[in-house]
Amino acid sequence: MNNVIEMSHPLIKHKISLLRDKNTGTNEFRKLIEEIGILMGYEALRDLPLEDVEVETPIETCMTPMISGKKLAIVPILRAGLGMVNGILALVPSAKVGHIGLYRDEETHEPHEYYCKLPDPIDQRLIVVLDPMLATGGSAIAAIDFIKAHGGKSIKFMSIIAAPEGVERLAKAHPDVQIYCGNIDRQLNKDAYICPGLGDAGDRIFGTI
Ligand code: PRP
Ligand code: URA
Repeated sequence: MNNVIEMSHPLIKHKISLLRDKNTGTNEFRKLIEEIGILMGYEALRDLPLEDVEVETPIETCMTPMISGKKLAIVPILRAGLGMVNGILALVPSAKVGHIGLYRDEETHEPHEYYCKLPDPIDQRLIVVLDPMLATGGSAIAAIDFIKAHGGKSIKFMSIIAAPEGVERLAKAHPDVQIYCGNIDRQLNKDAYICPGLGDAGDRIFGTI
């Protein structure tokens, strides 16, 4: 699967281990999700195009590179994706933010949509979809289907922890989407939770356990 990149940075791996710990409380969990968002965003945005622009320094005028091309839109999948938004905004404060609300049915594990609002027009933007968990892949696939149906063309997907089953399904469903994973874990369990995972990301971010 050449559209999948698993992060190798030691800071990302270290912070993911802290996230996994069941004794990590809500406050620290939230901070870690945001920090990992920054670190993963830094990696995922390394191919942003640059163009030389003229800048006057106190010494002289020079041509110096600045980000050009497509503007960014961040699209968190509600709820848990919200935790990563400030991390990406710390890197690109001018990014627009869309939202896609999906929850998984506890029995079938199928995603259900309850809210969607995207920046308009979306077709000229680079879109980064955020969700800390990629489990069966159903939510990510549904979110990206929706974005494409609204004209989105250039899409990246970022998850902090992924299951191999979900990565494979998403990579096949959307081969044009670059997928960034903080860690690819062992497998899903019978309830479609990631093992070893970190439990329910939304509940741990918002303290609703
Ligand atoms: C979690 C998670 C993903 C989804 C992943 O959300 O944040 O959106 O499950 O599972 P999947 O890959 O099998 O679709 P959840 O449905 O628990 O909603 P929440 O974020 O509101 O807690
Ligand atoms: N959603 C989560 O929050 N955690 C999992 O392990 C799977 C789906």
